Amino acid sequence: MDKLVSLCKRKGFIYQSSGIYGGVNGCWDFGPLGVELKRNIKDDWWYNFVRTREDMVGLDASIIMHPQVWVASGHVEAFHDMLVDCKECKKRFRQDHVEGDRCPECGGELTEPKAFNSMLRTRLGVSDDTAVETYLRPETCQAIFVDFKEVCSSTRVKLPFGIAQVGKSFRNEVNPRNFIFRSREFEQMEIEFFCRQEEEEDWFAQWQEDIWSWFLAIGISESKLRWYEHPKESLAHYSKRTVDVEYEFPFGWGELQGLANRGSYDLTQHSKHSGKDLSYFDQEKNEHIVPTVIEPSAGVDRTALAVLCDAYDEEEVKGETRVVMRFHPRIAPIKAAVLPLVKKDGLAELGEEFERKLRKKFPTYYDHAGAIGRRYRRMDEVGTPFCICLDYETKENGTVTVRERDSMEQSRMHMDEVAAFVQQRTSFERD
Ligand code: GAP
Repeated sequence: MDKLVSLCKRKGFIYQSSGIYGGVNGCWDFGPLGVELKRNIKDDWWYNFVRTREDMVGLDASIIMHPQVWVASGHVEAFHDMLVDCKECKKRFRQDHVEGDRCPECGGELTEPKAFNSMLRTRLGVSDDTAVETYLRPETCQAIFVDFKEVCSSTRVKLPFGIAQVGKSFRNEVNPRNFIFRSREFEQMEIEFFCRQEEEEDWFAQWQEDIWSWFLAIGISESKLRWYEHPKESLAHYSKRTVDVEYEFPFGWGELQGLANRGSYDLTQHSKHSGKDLSYFDQEKNEHIVPTVIEPSAGVDRTALAVLCDAYDEEEVKGETRVVMRFHPRIAPIKAAVLPLVKKDGLAELGEEFERKLRKKFPTYYDHAGAIGRRYRRMDEVGTPFCICLDYETKENGTVTVRERDSMEQSRMHMDEVAAFVQQRTSFERD
C-alpha cells in the first residue's frame, strides 16, 4: 500500500484533501490522472449497465433531500455505528473494529458501546431561526425511490426495469482508513432494479452474474474477487438478503459492491410517510403492485482502489526495476503517448502536431524530454497502454513505431492508422 499511495501522490492520481492545511481525515482529491481513471470507471459502468440496456434508465438527483426522506428510509432511526471510547487515551473506535475489550491503541479500559448516527448533518437556509436541519445523503438510492412515480409516468418503463444513479454520498465514518477505502465523502454507482416478487430470486442471480462480469471487464483479476453472504442477523434494516463482492486488497478482503434484496421496504415506507401512492400499475395483471427491489450498489472510489492495486506491478528489465500500472486499456487515464525519438531535426514539431490530432479522439500525452527509454518508463508508471515514437523513418515514409506497454513489443504502422488502432483497443464498446 505504501508504494501505491506514494505513486498516486507523485503521479497525480490521488492527493489528501486540503493537504496544505494538514489534510481532512477521510476526504480525498483525485488529481489529473485520477480524475480520468475515475471518469473512465463511471463511464464504462454507465455504458455497460445503462446505455446499452433496454431495461434501464438514469437519474441525477440532488444530494440534499427533504429531511423526512431519512426518517422514512430508516436512516435517522437505524443508520448507526456502535462506538466505544477509551477511558485512558480518550480515542474513539467502532465497536466492531475492536478485538477484545481493551483499547487497541493503549490497552486502556473501554466505555460501554454508544450508538452514533453516521449521517452528516447540514443546515439549509440563511437565518438561524428558519434554517432547516437536514443531511447530506448517505446513499444515492433514496432519490430513486422518491422519484419512482415521476420516472414511471414520464417514461414508458415496464416491469422489470432499473433506475441507475452515480453520485456523491457522505458518511461521518468514525475511523476513515485504508487510503480511499473508507472515506467520509465518496461516490456510489447504484441501481434499483424493480421486478415482480415472484421473480426476485432469478433477478438476484442474474445481477450476481452481471456485476461479477463487469469487474472482470475492467481488468480486475478474478482470483482476487470473492462473494460474501451476510448472515441474517447482520443484515441492514432494509434488506432481506445481501451478498457483497469483495476484493483482496493489500490490507485484506474488503467490500467493493453490495447486492441487496430490499423487497418493497423503501417504496412502502415513502408511500406511508409522504401520503403519496408509489405503486406501479401492472398492465399484465391489471392491478397495482409495489415492486420488489434488487439493488446492486458499487463504490466508485473502492473500485478505483481495486483497479489501482490490481494494476500495480514491478518487474526486472535489463537489471532495472520497471514499475508498470497494468490498467485495462479501457480505463487507463492516458491512452497513448506521443514521443519523438529526439527533439531535433523537426521531429518535436512533427510529434506535437500529431499529438494535437490524436488528442481530439482520446486522452494523449506528449513528451520529448530525456532519453526515450526513460520516457517509456514514465508512461509505464502511469499505465499508458501505447507509446508512439516518431523517428527518422517517420520523415521519410510517415510510419511510426507503436510500443505496447505490457509486452514492450513494438510494431510499425503508418501515422494514418494509429488513431483507429488505439481507438479500437481502448474504447468501451464491446459485442
Ligand atoms: N444503497 C445501499 C448502500 O449504500 P452500502 O453497502 O452501505 O449499501 C454500497 O454501500 C457501496 O458503497 C459499498 O459496497 C462501497 O463500495 C461504497 N461505500 C460505502 N461506504 C463507503 C465509504 N465510507 N467509503 C468509500 N466507499 C463506501
